[in-house]
Amino acid sequence: MTREEWIKLSAIIGAGSMIPKELLAAALVDDEIKRSDFGKDFVWGTASAAYQIEGGWNEDGKGESIWDHFVHHTHKVKTHETADVAHDFYHRYESDIELMHKLHIPAQRFSIGWSRVMPKGTGAVNQKGIDFYNRVIDKSLKEYVTPWITCYHWDLPQALQEKGGWMNRDIIKWFEDYVEVCAKNFGDRVKNWMVFNEPMAFTALGYLMGIHAPGKFGYKPFFSSVHHTVMSHGAGGRVLRNLVKNANIGTTFSCSVIDGWKDKEVNKGAVTRSDVLINRLFIEPTLGLGYATKDLPALRHVEKYIKPEDEKLMQFDFDFIGVQNYSRVVAKYLGLVPMLHAINVPPKKLGHPVTQMNWEVYPEGISRIIKQFAAYKGVKKIIVTENGAAFKDEVVNGEINDPQRIQFLKDYLKNVLKAKREGVNLGGYFIWSFTDNFEWAEGFRPKFGLVGVDFKTEQRIVKASGKWFSEFLKG
Ligand code: NOJ
Repeated sequence: MTREEWIKLSAIIGAGSMIPKELLAAALVDDEIKRSDFGKDFVWGTASAAYQIEGGWNEDGKGESIWDHFVHHTHKVKTHETADVAHDFYHRYESDIELMHKLHIPAQRFSIGWSRVMPKGTGAVNQKGIDFYNRVIDKSLKEYVTPWITCYHWDLPQALQEKGGWMNRDIIKWFEDYVEVCAKNFGDRVKNWMVFNEPMAFTALGYLMGIHAPGKFGYKPFFSSVHHTVMSHGAGGRVLRNLVKNANIGTTFSCSVIDGWKDKEVNKGAVTRSDVLINRLFIEPTLGLGYATKDLPALRHVEKYIKPEDEKLMQFDFDFIGVQNYSRVVAKYLGLVPMLHAINVPPKKLGHPVTQMNWEVYPEGISRIIKQFAAYKGVKKIIVTENGAAFKDEVVNGEINDPQRIQFLKDYLKNVLKAKREGVNLGGYFIWSFTDNFEWAEGFRPKFGLVGVDFKTEQRIVKASGKWFSEFLKG
């Protein structure tokens, strides 16, 4: 019996109601998945970010961003590469968007480079930067690729960093002004918006651990940035709501399901604390739940940055929450570690394959984390705004055959479907990424793209996974 026949039969005889929802969902995803399984309104796309693909780092009046500064003035990118040129989307956007269309990709998520449109972060607007994004938007629409904009994907103008960046409370106002510029210039044609990309990642990597731009480390930079980012979440959301008619407004969170090492009692607290830091820290204040200080006492350090009126202003009623999941975290108690008193067990010890990023391949993690986020009362809809995998690709006779990535995507998609069938209001799925690109402190080594790029010649090669996704979308 085919799956469709089985669904029909279950509906007719009412068997669906007798079988536990989870079992039914699992049974139904055994087959090869199809686009139609996800429903007509489900959004499919690929995702990218300005600094990772554009290049043109100082062209046409663009100001310096913290990432330009970081790659030029520190040696923290492991490969000592820069994304000054990257894969040159700045000049090649037309053919890249045409290729998206050719591959039947219905939507692309990209970010606006803040310092491209406002070189100093506040004040003067750079018309040439606005023109560039207008061209990208118009070309996307012409090719039937719906544009989804992320306002902030980590490339703060350096001029603002010199005033403290996310550590300075004034950033709430700077951010509002910037979002206003985006909304007023692009909101007539773009209806899908995300305020932030992964606030946890940019505050922790850039302001706590110092391994991403702007390279700050310590509690003070981290906790001040956390609070001002949370405040800007609400502020940015409200600007979009006021200025963009019929906007679909979301934001995105990096997230991973957390398990305790060997399920031991002693690791339970490590799981709770890691869950706060990795998954709960940014979404809960937005939903009106405040900071989870009870479960992660170190969050008391945020308190000195909170003003009486903030609790209300932190909140925003998002239309959707973007979940960005790649892997799982297995936590183990270790008292010596400040703040968390926990460490992550090395993924290689977990018995599953790992990707080029040394992340465990753990497909069921995506359905579990989707359900965790969907369980919050204020979350109306979930969209997977990033999922994908970096594997070492090889060009053989002009082709890139990447069966591991295809398998990864199929396995994760089955679990996305499982969450949907178990009742989550799930509206879309974006693959990270369309092309290979600059993976921050890892440089160009990790390959996440459906399309490979030879960074010397800028030649694009559609990988087997790109062809697979295209066939999937066509079906
Ligand atoms: C998270 C970030 O949003 C993106 O910039 C990054 O390249 C991918 N995920 C992969 O690490």
